Amino acid sequence: MKEKVLFVCLGNICRSPVAEEILRTRARSAGLEIHTDSAGLISYHEGELPDPRMRRCAANRGYTLTHRARPVVQDDFTRFDIIVPMDADNLRRLQRMARTANEQAKLTPAWTLLRHHEASCVPDPYYGTTDDFCHVIELLEDVADTLIEKFG
Ligand code: 4NP
Repeated sequence: MKEKVLFVCLGNICRSPVAEEILRTRARSAGLEIHTDSAGLISYHEGELPDPRMRRCAANRGYTLTHRARPVVQDDFTRFDIIVPMDADNLRRLQRMARTANEQAKLTPAWTLLRHHEASCVPDPYYGTTDDFCHVIELLEDVADTLIEKFG
């Protein structure tokens, strides 16, 4: 079965688009078929490429980001098997959107998928430094590896 994973953050221009590309890249290397996408809880950046600072950090680690930002829609709860919020605020907003216990059960916070880092969220780097963007990538590589192990 081809697993379908949706990553969600606030703007869909920093954390979730890189999460999507990291999982796609690592799944391909592992020979796994995973369908992955990302979305944001605000539509302010709809249609935009990821933030240039994240694109630069990602490129340095071998990831090319081409996702165009889009808002989360209700249908995402039927189309995806796992929905991965980046922080507690993302989780709360998604919990309010989920209509059934089955949809609630799809919510799998990113920080619960960390094996090699201890963190209570994948922190928003938008007002941060280059190091903050790079740290997000490190955390999300850990998250992707856990998902691959889970599906492998
Ligand atoms: P993201 O970062 O949620 O990781 O995409 C943000 C991007 C934009 C904004 C906030 C967070 N914003 O307020 O515009």
